[in-house]
Amino acid sequence: MIPNKLVEMNNVTIQFGGLLAIDNVSIYAYEGEILTIIGPNGAGKTTLFNILSGVYQPTSGEIRLKGKLVKNLTPHALVKKGIARTFQNIRLFPMLTVLENVMLGHHCRNKEGLLGVLFHGRKVNEQRLKSINYCKQLLGVVGLENLLEELASNLPYGKQRLLEIARALATECDVLLLDEPAAGMNTQERIELVKLIRRISKEMNKSIILIEHDLDLVMDISDRIVVLDYGCKIAEGSPLAIQNDPKVIEAYIGSSDEEGDDYAVI
Ligand SMILES: Nc1ncnc2c1ncn2[C@@H]1O[C@H](COP(=O)(O)OP(=O)(O)O)[C@@H](O)[C@H]1O
Ligand SMILES: [Mg+2]
Repeated sequence: MIPNKLVEMNNVTIQFGGLLAIDNVSIYAYEGEILTIIGPNGAGKTTLFNILSGVYQPTSGEIRLKGKLVKNLTPHALVKKGIARTFQNIRLFPMLTVLENVMLGHHCRNKEGLLGVLFHGRKVNEQRLKSINYCKQLLGVVGLENLLEELASNLPYGKQRLLEIARALATECDVLLLDEPAAGMNTQERIELVKLIRRISKEMNKSIILIEHDLDLVMDISDRIVVLDYGCKIAEGSPLAIQNDPKVIEAYIGSSDEEGDDYAVI
């Protein structure tokens, strides 16, 4: 059976003034698939996420979710349609607890509303309880179940990234966009992260699109890889094919002078 394409971007271009940040790029991800986007800094990876999550509207091209065209939708509307993301620079509510942060992710799926999550009265009790249980369960998935009442700002960096993932999952998304989730994590945290991402993809059956610099992690976890360079897709394929692609090696070695030796490891 051919799996469904949960998300696809067809011939998308976005221009900022004179800069073609994304130039006629097409990508897709199947249900249960981990697609990783790699490329030197400034290649357009985050911009691609900003388009997929409705932060930017493309200059041309189309986006489809479960085969249906989505156009001119706000980030909030796209979350409701099933696209959730985490951010390269973590964006949590630092003065709310771990549990409250996840409940804010879930508010788009219940009738309680944003204010209800924060200022709850009697009326919403039953629904609130369900939501609390659901969010606790997700915190269990990411391994933060013992930190429910901790303020988000008190968590170490790696755990804040896991909390962002739990909050994104709480939107009940079909497609999860993870922008450099391993950044700032130590080796052990990275190993756990790989297991978690696999679990979300293969057990929860979501499409995951991942932006990641750690090439060992990328080669280990990806079902498929897309390589961006200067806004263009220069390669696409299995981890093995990508590692041996001369265009990819060229793009990385070409950028190593400016970026240090980060990419010379491919
Ligand atoms: N809102 C914007 N206005 C102007 N230029 C932008 C904007 N967003 C991104 N860019 C430019 O687009 C290019 C790609 O950026 P980005 O997607 O953040 O790269 P990456 O995530 O691959 O490092 C960069 O040259 C960046 O400066
Ligand atoms: Mg980026």
